[in-house]
Amino acid sequence: MAKMSPLLTLFVVLLSSMMIHHLPVASSTKWCVASPTAKEKQLQDNITFACSQMGVDCRPILPDGACYNPNTLLSHASYVMNAYYQSHDRTDQACTFFFPNSGTFTTTNPSYGACVYPS
Ligand SMILES: *[C@@H]1O[C@H](CO)[C@@H](O)[C@H](O)[C@H]1NC(C)=O
Repeated sequence: MAKMSPLLTLFVVLLSSMMIHHLPVASSTKWCVASPTAKEKQLQDNITFACSQMGVDCRPILPDGACYNPNTLLSHASYVMNAYYQSHDRTDQACTFFFPNSGTFTTTNPSYGACVYPS
């Protein structure tokens, strides 16, 4: 094999590492969040439902919680929909059946600051 110049080698290494980072990983993590198109009433119903379920910790969206701000239905619904999804075996149905039209998947970690979305 021909000897590659150090510069070329560096280029190839950079290129492959860039490609590796863009490969979808098999165990790709996803989160169930509220769709911005959902109606407020639906989001409120969805929050009430999710928070009434075993295993769903809704404390973070309470006034003293890390996810209280921003204090919007969309943000609170996103947090609890994901909490419901994560605590119910992460089946697609846990997001789409109980939150039809209002729940959606994202592969971008929705966590911010001290508000950590379970995954
Ligand atoms: C969640 O909201 C959707 C509407 O987007 C509604 O159809 C569904 O019944 C709600 N789910 C619950 C459990 O309240």
